[in-house]
Amino acid sequence: MDPNEAAKRISHLREELEKHNYNYYVLNNPEIDDYAFDQLMAELIGLENEFPEFFDADSPTQRIGSDHNQEFKQVAHKYLMLSLSNTYTEEEVREFDQRVRKLTDENFEYVCELKFDGTSISLTYENGLLIRAVTRGDGEKGDDVTANVKTIKSIPLKLRGDYPAEFEIRGEVLLPFAVFEMLNREREEIGEQPFANPRNAASGTLKCQNSAVVASRKLDAYLYYVLGNNLPDDGHFELLRHASLWGFKVSEHTRKCRNIEEIFDFLREWNVRRKDLPVATDGVVIKINSSALQQELGFTAKSPRWAIAYKFKAERVSTTLNSISYQVGRTGAVTPVANLQPILLAGTVVKRATLHNADVIKGLDLHFGDVVFVEKGGEIIPKIVSADLTFRHPMSEAVRFIEHCPECNTLLIRQEGESAFYCPNETGCPPQIKGKLEHFITRKAMNIDGLGSETIELLFQNNLIRNIADLYELKISDLIYLERLGEKSATRILESLETSKTVPFERVLFALGIRYVGETVAKKLARELKTIDQIEKATIEELTGVEEIGSKIAESIINWFSNDQNKQLIGRLKNNGLCFELKTEQKAGQSEKLKGLSLIISGTFEKFSRDELKAFIELNGGKNVTSISAKTNYLVAGENIGPSKLEKAQKLKIPIISEDELLQLTN
Ligand code: IVH
Repeated sequence: MDPNEAAKRISHLREELEKHNYNYYVLNNPEIDDYAFDQLMAELIGLENEFPEFFDADSPTQRIGSDHNQEFKQVAHKYLMLSLSNTYTEEEVREFDQRVRKLTDENFEYVCELKFDGTSISLTYENGLLIRAVTRGDGEKGDDVTANVKTIKSIPLKLRGDYPAEFEIRGEVLLPFAVFEMLNREREEIGEQPFANPRNAASGTLKCQNSAVVASRKLDAYLYYVLGNNLPDDGHFELLRHASLWGFKVSEHTRKCRNIEEIFDFLREWNVRRKDLPVATDGVVIKINSSALQQELGFTAKSPRWAIAYKFKAERVSTTLNSISYQVGRTGAVTPVANLQPILLAGTVVKRATLHNADVIKGLDLHFGDVVFVEKGGEIIPKIVSADLTFRHPMSEAVRFIEHCPECNTLLIRQEGESAFYCPNETGCPPQIKGKLEHFITRKAMNIDGLGSETIELLFQNNLIRNIADLYELKISDLIYLERLGEKSATRILESLETSKTVPFERVLFALGIRYVGETVAKKLARELKTIDQIEKATIEELTGVEEIGSKIAESIINWFSNDQNKQLIGRLKNNGLCFELKTEQKAGQSEKLKGLSLIISGTFEKFSRDELKAFIELNGGKNVTSISAKTNYLVAGENIGPSKLEKAQKLKIPIISEDELLQLTN
């Protein structure tokens, strides 16, 4: 295809794909199926690779994010991001209405809208392009999370229709319930702490350093506030209508209300209907419609006088506390769970409630047999909020946290500054053993796909495995006679164990399940210290010298290696051929020459791809950043670099170098 033709096709595909994104993510009304969408996307990716001169940061292909760490630049908000004052009763809402009516003689309208329970975001558009996305931060300045926000499919990168040349729009980034539940299942599978609620998950995701992770999390966004100078209407409600025509996702449940009775109707209606929404809401926001009147009423120090939030009551019921169970996790942490007399709460039957830790039990002063109040608030798992003392039996026994492990009877310990009690019997406590085995086989660790948690249980029950090294000493004769395992599955298990021997060192290190050594820490440790022997020998100082490793992680690593059983484990795994050092190709070309330097890559290059250059920088100890700041040391510039980046680098006097000059830096 000649470049002219390619340019036309690329631009057509970009428009088509953006239209389909809009239909799917904003209107919930797809016109084509996923397969057809993927084909168009694949064609566009192919053409953009073939014709890098047509690179565009706003292309739908860029919504996949990048797996390079980014730093968040702090940006001052043009208009402060204030919060709303909260009300909890209809009476307080009536008082708000009376306050407003005292301040103005005008006839006015209200707008009632849902209060979305996510994390707020401010988007700036110039000439129809998303140029910046900033979190609320402290209200005066927030973090520039543009790269992450660009991965949210319901946020338009380019606007449609007749939009103002420059404006800001604010809204809420949310993780839909369905995605939240899936994400937490995945996190539990790989031994990571699940998020407490969709709000935490959304704000945590938005602050991820890796925008490819953000892209994979499927965030959504509803916009509810347009700000700027030359806006097309005075009314807030009308502006939201416009925003929806420009391509934004705006709640369809927003309603104009003329008086307090109409507001109450909205509150009562949504107190019930909100349970059917796919995203979390925690109340209703009541705003005066006219921007002119809003301006006249102005703000107090913290919030506008022209709006309030009415918070939904968390649903609460009372029931009896029957008993407490204690669950032991992979790391040995013991979590108390309350067993309740089953009761209907917010549409589901609740039998259990989390108590988190010993401090929570103490704080609630629980006694067995107590009548307790249970709430389902923002948290998905119900919690006990208090005991109803009027029903307490005078002879009832107070709940005391157990002292011994419910699984292996070992005395529990609690480290200073920690809220959880732990069972220290890492190698002999069944749920810890099984939990470690389950973590070891997961996709992000050794990826042993022939094995699942049920087979682990089966092998454990049959005394075939007690630790991860035992897995590699399994024989076909051990497996084929087991109930539910035929020759085919047995062979598959052994084959996938064999394949796992090629898993690179950093993943093996992560798979060992050392407390606090997650994926990123394992990667850093492997890159820096290169072999398991070096890690074992490392002192606290050497370990904390590695980027992102603090004393808590370092102590946990030292503690792990001080256990002779763990040393034996490593010895056996080594004998079985697992990879305990960085591969030579990872080591080759590695240096520390760029250590402490932040570099930014921009444009297209002749000899290497951008990803190759980024990998080169990391391999030599440098850091890839995605936005220029005074802290950036070099801008590596290729062809077609954006003029604004170039200008900014020149303004901040950041040296601009070519790809050859980058290579020379490490000579
Ligand atoms: S309006 C000046 N509308 O609630 C007030 N806020 O405490 C601008 N929120 O930080 C906010 N849904 O994150 C507004 N429909 C809605 C909202 C909403 C959720 C959040 C927002 C804000 C907080 C206010």
